[in-house]
Amino acid sequence: MEIEAHLHMWLSLLIRWAHLIVGIAWIGASFYFNWLENHLQRQNQQEGTAGDLWAVHGGGFYYLKKFEVAPGQLPPTLHWFKWEAYATWISGMALLVVVFYWNAQTYMLSPGAGGLSPGAAISVGILALLSSWIFYDVICCRLSGPEWLVALLIFTWFVILAWVLSSLLSGRAAYIHVGAAIGTIMVANVFRVIIPAQKDLVNAVSEKRVPDPGKGRSALQRSRHNNYLTLPVLFIMISGHYPASYGHPHNWLVLLVFSLAAVAIRHYFNIRHLPGFRAWPLIPAVLLLVGLIIVTAPDSATVSKAETLTESVDSRDVYEVVESRCTACHAATPSFQGFASAPLGIELDSPEKMQLHAEKIYQAVAITRTMPLANLTQMTDTERHLIARWFEQRDAETQR
Ligand code: HEC
Repeated sequence: MEIEAHLHMWLSLLIRWAHLIVGIAWIGASFYFNWLENHLQRQNQQEGTAGDLWAVHGGGFYYLKKFEVAPGQLPPTLHWFKWEAYATWISGMALLVVVFYWNAQTYMLSPGAGGLSPGAAISVGILALLSSWIFYDVICCRLSGPEWLVALLIFTWFVILAWVLSSLLSGRAAYIHVGAAIGTIMVANVFRVIIPAQKDLVNAVSEKRVPDPGKGRSALQRSRHNNYLTLPVLFIMISGHYPASYGHPHNWLVLLVFSLAAVAIRHYFNIRHLPGFRAWPLIPAVLLLVGLIIVTAPDSATVSKAETLTESVDSRDVYEVVESRCTACHAATPSFQGFASAPLGIELDSPEKMQLHAEKIYQAVAITRTMPLANLTQMTDTERHLIARWFEQRDAETQR
């Protein structure tokens, strides 16, 4: 058993590592090509050339040139950028399975919501990825309306998805599935639209025919979408480590507001090289982020409930609660199935260690209520209030 948890930990770490590496390669290349496009020197170009630029990096000079359409004949080696995207999706799916589906009981389910079985929760997750791509693709292919309408429909889809998932699954699982749905759309865009259009372009050059303009237009639209989806997806991927985001009672709204800010920031990077005042997208972005910080501040409800416990709280009673609700996982050698060591190194298996982590315990138990994980150890509200009261008294004492 212990060896299984140990191997599981390593598997998860190695896949996460790989996912990060290929993700950096993919998004890094995409940022780089966006940058190129925005910084090409376009004046006084010779016939057939759209722009060029000089760069210095790593001890060498580079000269890059973009063709208006295509070179007269294909070069012997042409570099493609697609495996970074595919590998990011494949490793991401593997991570989803290893971290979330492997221990679905622990990570997919939320104590309050849904009452789903682990199998049903996994099905909901997979369905979210599939249906998002189908909906998105149909909207892009069938709708000939203006681009803002397409964007509005995609956004509405994600509002509904975030809301549905957060009412059926644990906050972390809901977040990661919204992120994975966006990631799936982005990779499927590369696989199904952008790369086929590039193949057509390359074939057209060697066959000396005109490339299919429809394919080119779709590819441009999809890469523009991918561009705006990058920053939201990166936020969602790291937010699982911040319980104040996914643990908020309106966690789906937190996700959407942050995503809007991220889109605005991306827009700023897309237009900042243009002449004139181009920093305006940062204004809504900053307002949205500041608003989020204010709205997600711990509300006083837990605190005032805790105040109803007027008599002073004995640390020994608190430790008893921690021992019965937390140390199955948070101990040097956890007894809970699937844990090889204390999660995030937070050990709570002695009164001293409990004191050491007092503030974190208070946050996780009384404010975000993300602990005990999925409330697997069935902590009661009375116990949460006890811990809140204990921390507040302790806090007041240290301030005196
Ligand atoms: C079923 C196992 C389990 C139980 C029981 C459990 N935890 Fe956790 N805890 C975890 C895991 C897993 C993480 C890491 C989550 C992550 O990676 O973000 C964690 C993270 C934490 C963190 C740091 C991140 C956060 O959410 O703030 C704190 C603090 C914490 N737990 C406190 C507690 C306390 C206090 C209890 C008892 C009331 C408790 N936990 C019960 C599994 C558990």
